[in-house]
Amino acid sequence: MGEILKIVGPVVVGEKMLGAKMYDVVKVGDERLIGEIIKLGGDKATIQVYEETSGLKPGEKIVNTGLPLTVELGPGLLESIYDGIQRPLGEMVKKSGNFISRGVVANALDRNKKWAFNPTAKKGDKVKGGDIIGEVKETDIIVHKIMVPFGVEGELAEIRKGNFSVEETIAFVKNGKEKHELTLMQKWEVRRPRPCTEKLSPNTPLVTGQRIIDTFFPIAKGGTAAIPGPFGSGKTVTQQSLAKFSDCQIIVYVGCGERGNEMTEVLKEFPELLDPKTKKPLMQRTILIANTSNMPVAAREASVYTGITIAEYYRDMGYDVALMADSTSRWAEAMREISGRIEEMPGEEGYPTYLAKRLAEFYERAGRIICVGNPARNGSVSIIGAVSPPGGDVSEPVSQNTLRVTKVFLALDAKLAQRRHFPAINWLKSYSLYTSTLEPTYANYVSSDWTENMRKAMALLQKEAELQEIVQLVGPDALPEKEQAILDAARMIREDFLQQSAFSEIDASASLKKQYRMLKAILKFYNKAIDALDLGVQLKAVTSLKVRESIARMKEITENDVDKKIDAIMGEIDLQFDRMVKEAAR
Ligand SMILES: Nc1ncnc2c1ncn2[C@@H]1O[C@H](COP(=O)(O)OP(=O)(O)OP(=O)(O)O)[C@@H](O)[C@H]1O
Ligand SMILES: [Mg+2]
Repeated sequence: MGEILKIVGPVVVGEKMLGAKMYDVVKVGDERLIGEIIKLGGDKATIQVYEETSGLKPGEKIVNTGLPLTVELGPGLLESIYDGIQRPLGEMVKKSGNFISRGVVANALDRNKKWAFNPTAKKGDKVKGGDIIGEVKETDIIVHKIMVPFGVEGELAEIRKGNFSVEETIAFVKNGKEKHELTLMQKWEVRRPRPCTEKLSPNTPLVTGQRIIDTFFPIAKGGTAAIPGPFGSGKTVTQQSLAKFSDCQIIVYVGCGERGNEMTEVLKEFPELLDPKTKKPLMQRTILIANTSNMPVAAREASVYTGITIAEYYRDMGYDVALMADSTSRWAEAMREISGRIEEMPGEEGYPTYLAKRLAEFYERAGRIICVGNPARNGSVSIIGAVSPPGGDVSEPVSQNTLRVTKVFLALDAKLAQRRHFPAINWLKSYSLYTSTLEPTYANYVSSDWTENMRKAMALLQKEAELQEIVQLVGPDALPEKEQAILDAARMIREDFLQQSAFSEIDASASLKKQYRMLKAILKFYNKAIDALDLGVQLKAVTSLKVRESIARMKEITENDVDKKIDAIMGEIDLQFDRMVKEAAR
């Protein structure tokens, strides 16, 4: 047991702390505030405190639990709203927009709720950590697989069927004289990645339904993506679209309050979102971790670890999980503040020198894996992190260190947002390093010329950017008609393909097939235009063809009608060009 020596904002220095280890969880002061040891020296320990420290006084006691910061894992995680150290916020925040009062010991998982447990293993089975021994229907849309905790191995001496709370015994595992009691709940320390049998190549796309992402800058399942963007450029809307429409089963959303009231908005809005596939609340497959800007910075520092650990747990059941962190800049700022308080040598722009390492370690916890245990299964955690560089300038340390470790870069652009081009992802600055790995999959899923189309469209957009410079000097009419046709095609790609409204019922998400066919139609129109110009037709006649209106409205074609309606548009393109060329020849 130690004593408080001094209090420095969110950090407390304790003395008489001999025997303490790094990252031990401690209870600080008379109110037993939760904290974690982040620095040791002699008998002194520096502690980051997860609760408001005002009112603490030197001399008050510090109790070391000797345990690392852990999360509770079990049924009841879904639909929960937690703070950075997994205390349930739920109703409290919705009502007051405030945080829980101090020193409150709140269980992450409800101790009273009973869950119907269905064993899938039987007495006598040999089991070890990671093996699935039964199931609980956690929500209408998600079945929770109950796994043997890592470190436990032996023979199932007993397994029970029925209704259990998370603390009641569901099974016994015997190993010689040792006997382990299993419950629906297990714990895991947040700063240590959960193990996997093998990391797999990221060769499966995370289909997001967002055309600019799936077609031009695809994300792989188990992959990593960064979304840097200035204030109001669409980081939150983009992350929410990904949460709603990506083809993964579980969403972990870590919100680090941007503006004071933004988390409150998220907390209000998220529970209202519907899962587009099942029409049930999206929360039935979501875990929300919320830090408002008025919560202590240390809790914010911990929140991404809490989030990723929960994500790994669902991955281990064999699910595809997507973790959204909005925004990681606020996380980095929490690190900076704590590092400053304990007077560490600052690195670039005052961030701690280990900023790069922490970011890398976090993103390394993404991956598509073979899970540990039987039955054989794969799972994945994809991480999509928003970054909010001050002034939108990505040369600052958080953006730079994030870009170094993430494989997809979706550059949000203030100018595009001002022009109301949404999603405001800049197609010239963004990139994906998964494009070539995913190429064969896209060829199989959709069409062998998927990548070729994408490249042709991208070439037109790049050519447009080059021509823009000339246009600015001399105006578009000075360009040869073929180059004007490029500008025209690029505009179609931008307006009729890349722009996608998150708020339109039909357009908010597009299947890969719809994306492919839309782009194909635009490219067909462009090719026909070039041929027609060669035959002496004027560009003005081309751009006033009636089929252009249908192309502009392709977005609003429902998935069921894609084949029929886009076939019709393709037919119209042929017909209208043929007619026009014939007339011109007369
Ligand atoms: N895909 C989209 N479709 C339609 N509108 C969009 C889209 N993306 C962004 N917007 C518009 O831009 C506004 C700002 O977006 P958002 O709140 O996501 O920005 P942000 O980058 O998270 O901002 P902040 O820096 O304040 O957190 C939205 O309220 C919405 O009107
Ligand atoms: Mg935002």
